[in-house]
Amino acid sequence: MSSHPSRPSPNPSRSPHATGHSKLSVPSDPGRLPMTLPLLAEKKRLGEPLVMVTAYDYPSARAAESAGVDLVLVGDSAATTVLGYSATTPVALEDMMVLARAVRRGLTTPLLIGDLPFGSYEISDEQALTTAVRMVKEAGADAVKLEGGGPAPVSRARAIVGAGIPVMGHVGLTPQSSTALGGWKAQGRTASAAARIAAEALALQEAGCFAIVFEAIPAAVTEELMGHMEVPVIGIGAGPATDGQVLVFHDLLGIRDGLGPRFVKRYASLQDDMNAGVAAYAEDVRERRYPGPEHTYSIDPAELAELHELLA
Ligand code: KIV
Repeated sequence: MSSHPSRPSPNPSRSPHATGHSKLSVPSDPGRLPMTLPLLAEKKRLGEPLVMVTAYDYPSARAAESAGVDLVLVGDSAATTVLGYSATTPVALEDMMVLARAVRRGLTTPLLIGDLPFGSYEISDEQALTTAVRMVKEAGADAVKLEGGGPAPVSRARAIVGAGIPVMGHVGLTPQSSTALGGWKAQGRTASAAARIAAEALALQEAGCFAIVFEAIPAAVTEELMGHMEVPVIGIGAGPATDGQVLVFHDLLGIRDGLGPRFVKRYASLQDDMNAGVAAYAEDVRERRYPGPEHTYSIDPAELAELHELLA
């Protein structure tokens, strides 16, 4: 198995390994330090909002890098955003590894978190640890994320943390178990359901998770829980009280059909732009407007004449 491309130095000129990474690393603010767990905790302490976004390939990683986000998640949402499935459960670990490696090549400073896909960690702590080790060793992830806060996921988180791999938890709407949760809908809307989410979040925190995602829970519930959370909480559809926010890259940039969940704020409409761009290209080809002279290579007329003779 190949070794992973490790996180390039944020300032290659200061790196003891200054050669070799230049083609892989993305120009970024040379003053920006790589995100670390202590820095993350410090930002929470200072009340500085944490920014997290998903990425699935080199260009999306470069966009995250250039925006200076704190955390990048190679989410299993890749199943729906880039692989065309209608749910996250079908995505294979091998697919996630390919995507995570591409993201690694595009990142210098954000913390890179690899999502553990459905079926890659549920069976045993040993299976979870094996998967997490692969995500770090072969894909270059700095940390992993897993879904759920029941006894089994908490045990998996504890085992992975125990091996020295940072783990991000995820409670509320956990898409891998959306069927059991009654569909893709907000969670924690009754006192008992919200208390269950609280218990799960606290159990993950106690197991050593360095941060926890709260997904699709009422903002008022998040506010109630935040006073109990010592580790950074990153929200998605969980209101403004969390320490940070995460959005799916394709949702925020409009690389999708439809608007997506209610909590999404759209900052661009790239699917429309892509559709229009490809349609314009197709029309240019059909109308013989492309390629134009500026898109073609030249040849010395004498060489062309010789070729003509040779072919005669
Ligand atoms: O897979 C994913 O994109 C996620 C985020 C929504 C947190 O889990």
